[in-house]
Amino acid sequence: MRSTSFVAAATLLAGLVRGQGSVEDWHPPTKGDVRGPCPMLNSLANHGFLPHSGKGIKLNDTIHALGEALNIGQDIAIDLFGFAAMTNPEPNATEFSLENLGRHNVLEHDASLSRADFDVTGDSVSFNRDAYDETRKFWTSESITVKQAAAARLARYNTSQTTNPKYTMSPLGDRFSAGESAAYLLVLGDISTATAPRKFVEYLFLNERLPAAEGWKKPSHVFTPTDLATGIDLIYNATGASAEDLKKMRARSKSELHGGSWRD
Ligand code: HEM
Ligand SMILES: *[C@@H]1O[C@H](CO)[C@@H](O)[C@H](O)[C@H]1NC(C)=O
Ligand SMILES: *[C@@H]1O[C@H](CO)[C@@H](O)[C@H](O)[C@H]1NC(C)=O
Ligand SMILES: *[C@@H]1O[C@H](CO)[C@@H](O)[C@H](O)[C@H]1NC(C)=O
Ligand SMILES: *[C@@H]1O[C@H](CO)[C@@H](O)[C@H](O)[C@H]1NC(C)=O
Ligand SMILES: [Mg+2]
Repeated sequence: MRSTSFVAAATLLAGLVRGQGSVEDWHPPTKGDVRGPCPMLNSLANHGFLPHSGKGIKLNDTIHALGEALNIGQDIAIDLFGFAAMTNPEPNATEFSLENLGRHNVLEHDASLSRADFDVTGDSVSFNRDAYDETRKFWTSESITVKQAAAARLARYNTSQTTNPKYTMSPLGDRFSAGESAAYLLVLGDISTATAPRKFVEYLFLNERLPAAEGWKKPSHVFTPTDLATGIDLIYNATGASAEDLKKMRARSKSELHGGSWRD
């Protein structure tokens, strides 16, 4: 009985989700569609794994898109959806739009890899060539390593701290930032070596499209919260600075640089 209704429910679910997105389908946003500061969610909307409009994204859409396109397990999807819903200005929202994600200092933070700081250009959502060029200078081999990813991230922090008088970084923003560097390495790359082909990563940032044409395949491994936590630790551990240096930077950034923090 139970197993029959389970099969029936699973079949129904498969029926509902079938056709909602594929690696082959890809259409850039058109009039009325919205996009945001996350190159991966923008890509998933372009492929139709998320609503192509970028609007009204619900928990089930998020679980479907991350699972179907990237083999990210549903506990991560549920967790990230909870954060995303916070960016919707409506109280107790049960959906979000990609545009909502761009609200400054909710999840969107300074020192992004491919976006400018909000207080410097007024636009921390669309792709920014200068920011991205600084990041990619650190991707010096065909396979991006943790060390390169960490150095790129720290360089962007340094640039923000020295050029943005209103630089700010909350502990949540900092953890998201580390998570984003971990995500491009581990989701586009090889989780066992924590390296990612540079051509995959560049393709995603530049085209907002999954890099299938470059040979990327959906990972066969289900990406878990432990994988993400390990990736974040790898990024933090590879900053190249001792704990003492980090403490000094933090003290300096608080006094001289208007309350920024390297790592909390
Ligand atoms: C529901 C799931 C997700 C949510 C809510 C989300 C949200 C965000 C937000 C708000 C930002 C902007 C932060 C900033 O740079 O200021 C961002 C950036 C980013 N996200 Fe996502 N994201 C999600 C899933 C993913 C996945 C699965 C990947 C896998 C590769 C990813 C990769 C990135 C990267 C690499 C950035 C940094 C972009 C940059 O610094 O220019 N995200 N994400
Ligand atoms: C999620 O649920 C909504 C109804 O609330 C439905 O319109 C949508 O198609 C569902 N998404 C997926 C991927 O099943
Ligand atoms: C939001 O949820 C909280 C906690 O469940 C509740 O107290 C509050 O009334 C809700 N607000 C709205 C506008 O629905
Ligand atoms: C930090 O940024 C400043 C100003 O852009 C630059 O002169 C300096 O070389 C940078 N330091 C590091 C360690 O990247
Ligand atoms: C990060 O460094 C800490 C302290 O040295 C260590 O215990 C931990 O295993 C490291 N994490 C990873 C993922 O390498
Ligand atoms: Mg940002």
